[in-house]
Amino acid sequence: MLLRVENLSKSFPVEFSVFGKPTKFLRALYEVSFEVEAGSIFSIVGESGSGKSTIARILSGIYKASGGQIFYNEKPLEDPSKNRDIQMVFQDPDTSLDPRKTVSFIVEEGLRIQNTVSKRERRRLVLDIVRSVGLTEEVLVKYPHQLSGGQKQRVAIARSLVLKPKLLILDEPTSALDVSVQAQILNLLVELKERYQLTYILITHDLKIVNHLSDHTMVMYLGQIMEIGRTEDIIHKPLHPYTKALLESVPKPGLDNLSKFSIKGEIPSPLNPPKGCPFKTRCPLCFERCQEKPELVDLDNRKVRCHLYKREV
Ligand SMILES: Nc1ncnc2c1ncn2[C@@H]1O[C@H](COP(=O)(O)OP(=O)(O)OP(=O)(O)O)[C@@H](O)[C@H]1O
Ligand SMILES: [Mg+2]
Repeated sequence: MLLRVENLSKSFPVEFSVFGKPTKFLRALYEVSFEVEAGSIFSIVGESGSGKSTIARILSGIYKASGGQIFYNEKPLEDPSKNRDIQMVFQDPDTSLDPRKTVSFIVEEGLRIQNTVSKRERRRLVLDIVRSVGLTEEVLVKYPHQLSGGQKQRVAIARSLVLKPKLLILDEPTSALDVSVQAQILNLLVELKERYQLTYILITHDLKIVNHLSDHTMVMYLGQIMEIGRTEDIIHKPLHPYTKALLESVPKPGLDNLSKFSIKGEIPSPLNPPKGCPFKTRCPLCFERCQEKPELVDLDNRKVRCHLYKREV
């Protein structure tokens, strides 16, 4: 297994005493466990605030986990920020690319920090990678504001790939782009995955992309896994009422129209999440037992957190 995450938790301090001691925490992740096979695409879906980006930021070393363990190639990964094998592409290239730096500087930066190859070799690697993301060398002297949205995201991808990662975390890589450009970037990502033998963790709101591209899918709600398994099973035979609601909230007929979801009712505040099942306030099938917190149970080739289902014996 390329990546194994066990009981990952994250709490953010949100209120402090006059002495600066945290007095209130927001729990963004509750004991999240999953595995990512080498060469596969693992999708993470869920509404806003479900903890998707928090997972991405912990895996790429931007945030420190509050609990749990990460294993990379079955070895404990104590400090993900030191592991160059894992790189991240952010949602919005406008905020992730430094507007004061040229493309050449931005793409080369990781190599400069790494300082393992000569200046000449760095230039060659930068040019190679810029071409492989479908840009020409003319962009090297340009600044981000001189590029289109799609070109900027190509630069962001090049910046991550120049470090020769094994695992790329794509946090909504196309959601800031025009619809026409989204498909081009997705096609590019598929092509790059083959060429560089990459593994992807793909965070997206777009179930159509999940359905087309990914091997496994994890459905998150308020920091907890609701359902996790093979994409085929999750999309075509969802078990959890939340997964069903996500799928029902997208245009019909057929899965070709799967797109961004929006389910009815407000997501509860993560500062004051419902006791018991987190989805109980919006679930059409809620019953008495949902006052108790459901465990994640193994069922029908996947794991589901819902009292409607019992562990298979
Ligand atoms: N640095 C932070 N400090 C305090 N709270 C945070 C911080 N980062 C994230 N959170 C909170 O943690 C929860 C999960 O946030 P996260 O960004 O992981 O959600 P998400 O699933 O990526 O949502 P979206 O689809 O909107 O990107 C949210 O309630 C968010 O407000
Ligand atoms: Mg996010």
